[in-house]
Amino acid sequence: LEINEFKHDLLKWFDENQRQMPWRETKNPYYIWLSEVMLQQTQVNTVRPYYNAFIERFPTIEALSTTNEEDVLKYWEGLGYYSRVRNFHEAVKEVHNKYNGKVPDDPESFQSLKGVGPYTNAAVMSIVHNHPLPAVDGNVLRVWSRLTCNDADIAQPKTKKLFEKELQPFVETKSGDFNQAMMELGATICTPKKPICILCPVQKHCEAFAEGVVSELPVKKKK
Ligand code: ADE
Repeated sequence: LEINEFKHDLLKWFDENQRQMPWRETKNPYYIWLSEVMLQQTQVNTVRPYYNAFIERFPTIEALSTTNEEDVLKYWEGLGYYSRVRNFHEAVKEVHNKYNGKVPDDPESFQSLKGVGPYTNAAVMSIVHNHPLPAVDGNVLRVWSRLTCNDADIAQPKTKKLFEKELQPFVETKSGDFNQAMMELGATICTPKKPICILCPVQKHCEAFAEGVVSELPVKKKK
């Protein structure tokens, strides 16, 4: 994979074709963080109305940290995975108390907050500050296994670590757009079933396409 050419083709496509999303109109770290927490187990179209209602009711770190958990949970009703919002609420209170209400802008401090793992850290730090961290979620595992024609088991932590290492050179600049473009490609073109390779902006870089094995990847073994 030629880094500059691949990245140019992917980012041009993202620039011209990305779906409009409310959290793509802001660099407010609290809003970006909320969107990433909501998007972790939930699709974009489901998240949209919840995200809008949540930031309307809790527009600031201050507003969320001074509300009790029960009232916060009401705005998550129906989204599921409620530990996400409990952790997020805890973490936002910690930002309020320990960081003067300012979301930490260094990855080490940010990842130390409750519920913030490597994915959320990389996504938020890259989107808000262009910190050079690859954000590897399920979409990116699938896209990267196809692009590099790698049949390693994506359920294994070591596969994710390998992909993070391979992606590192790609996120040295414009990391926020690069990470989001990879997710967007996985969500709209390089889908789990019936990927639309004829519309893929990076088809010419795809080793699985060249080998005719796109539908066999990724490999995901039962744990
Ligand atoms: N899924 C997780 N984060 C996302 C983002 N920033 N844009 C689109 N889909 C996502």
